[in-house]
Amino acid sequence: MSETKTNNSLGYKIVEHKFDAVVVGAGGAGLRATMGLAMEGLSVACVTKVFPTRSHTVAAQGGMSASLGNMGRDDWRWHMYDTVKGSDWLGDQDAIEYMCREAVPAVIELEHQGVPFSRTKDGKIYQRPFGGMTTEYGKGAPAQRTCAAADRTGHAILHTLYQQSLKHDANFFIEYFAIDLVMEDGECKGVIALDMSDGRLHLFRGHAVILATGGYGRAYFSCTSAHTCTGDGNGMVLRAGLPLQDMEFVQFHPTGIYGAGCLITEGVRGEGGFLTNSEGERFMERYAPSAKDLASRDVVSRAMTIEINEGRGVGLNKDHIHLHLEHLGPEVIEKRLPGIAESAEIFAGVDVTKEPIPVLPTVHYNMGGIPTNYHGEVVNLVGDNPDSVVKGLYAIGEAACVSVHGANRLGSNSLLDIVVFGRAVAHRCAETIKPGTKHKDLQTDAVDKIISEFDKIRNADGKSSTADLRLELQQTMQKHAAVFRTQETLQSGCELVSQIVEKYADLKITDRSLIWNTDLIEALELRNLMAQAKVTIMGAENREESRGAHAREDCPDRDDENWMKHTLAYFDEKHNVSFQYRPVHMNTLTDECEVIPPAKRVY
Ligand code: SIN
Repeated sequence: MSETKTNNSLGYKIVEHKFDAVVVGAGGAGLRATMGLAMEGLSVACVTKVFPTRSHTVAAQGGMSASLGNMGRDDWRWHMYDTVKGSDWLGDQDAIEYMCREAVPAVIELEHQGVPFSRTKDGKIYQRPFGGMTTEYGKGAPAQRTCAAADRTGHAILHTLYQQSLKHDANFFIEYFAIDLVMEDGECKGVIALDMSDGRLHLFRGHAVILATGGYGRAYFSCTSAHTCTGDGNGMVLRAGLPLQDMEFVQFHPTGIYGAGCLITEGVRGEGGFLTNSEGERFMERYAPSAKDLASRDVVSRAMTIEINEGRGVGLNKDHIHLHLEHLGPEVIEKRLPGIAESAEIFAGVDVTKEPIPVLPTVHYNMGGIPTNYHGEVVNLVGDNPDSVVKGLYAIGEAACVSVHGANRLGSNSLLDIVVFGRAVAHRCAETIKPGTKHKDLQTDAVDKIISEFDKIRNADGKSSTADLRLELQQTMQKHAAVFRTQETLQSGCELVSQIVEKYADLKITDRSLIWNTDLIEALELRNLMAQAKVTIMGAENREESRGAHAREDCPDRDDENWMKHTLAYFDEKHNVSFQYRPVHMNTLTDECEVIPPAKRVY
């Protein structure tokens, strides 16, 4: 770990650091990786744009899936079956096997590290039912598989991982905005970041650069994501000429608070809550006779949208749905769901012990992201090899597409994903990097190029404001890449998003300062959001089938013959998008489980 200063050709002073590994992002995935790397004896820098315990994982409510079997029989193979089915057969089965099997040791490790899970009467970790989680390969009763710390599980995990990372002497660079990856000859050598507090630029060299930068929910107008969820790592990957995978699959969570968008956990329905329309009908019984309100999220969000579109929404404008938990009683609510009672009161003015919560499907999660294998290594299609690894570059958590969620993620598989793959990447780096290995000097002007682009944005003196462009982008995505899509809506959306991307050249930054310049930071975030929005909506137009969260009214069926493949979307310097494809992995890692053949998906 050393620190030197150099001068860039534009006169910017750059502080240079050398570590074995650099993690970008301090949510659950980033912190699990940071802690693991430090425990393995590697020098590690965690570079984060917000204080670690303010990362968006803090907002994850309902829990983390793992087949512990504390509240009924369970098996990781049943969990694997549910996840493959939930993914609508777009998930890679080797990676899903790995995640579901490793869930059990990963959650026990968290317990030992101090996560304050809720408890059963006999002192075991409390587990609740969640959507799409079943027993006996879908033939048995709903599984109680989601390990919960009341309805604040993400908060509990994040705080524990941060404390453990500090205990193991990880280095944190807090409120640093990562700008771009330093790539040479197709290898990642480091990352450039801006210290927002003093305006200095930093070059972090690492033998491994691990992107744990989360999703890009803020490409939409209404989402459960924090304002910071702008997919900065995804944007950097596109600018590095690498692809993003399966970006057309955007999850709408059925129960965002109407108007505010804040999350009301699926755990509410896990504890017995249910949805009704304006006729007071529990309509999910019609759409998913067996799982009902606990069908997978894509199914529930579509059902709610149909109810509203057919005139059975509630409220003055008949444009939302009611979520009931009054019947659970104050004791269960106080013990199991205290956080959502508070959110409902603050954001909807509702006392959940007496009245239903007004809810609406709201953008929640990106199944797509940076393509990786199950070790967290970034892959790219090179020649005929769809699994070539990009040296030095890794991605984990929502930023990544392993792909364990395929076309639709099951609730509580995301806290699982971040912990399992944060842990996996630490193991991989420990296997492949010798602590203290020297860094070779950079051979190209890669750093200068990044800084010159940054300088152009900093000095942008056009007419468009960042806030106006962002709003236009968010409204366009909300309207044109919604729960249901058609060729027509997508095509006009593609044109609008392309126009917005071009308007960025006419941006105006109101302040030239480098210190706490929120206009500049938001412009850098917008650059990332726009690129991701473009590959998302163009990918959606391109995929002529319905699968998981991608519901095309004009192509209502899943088309395995033509579309059981991953989309790789590239975004070139002229902002053109092009596509390539990778096969879905239909193999297992061990002979302890079997490949799950595609079947019709009914709940
Ligand atoms: C929820 O509690 O419903 C959100 C957690 C998740 O998305 O897995």
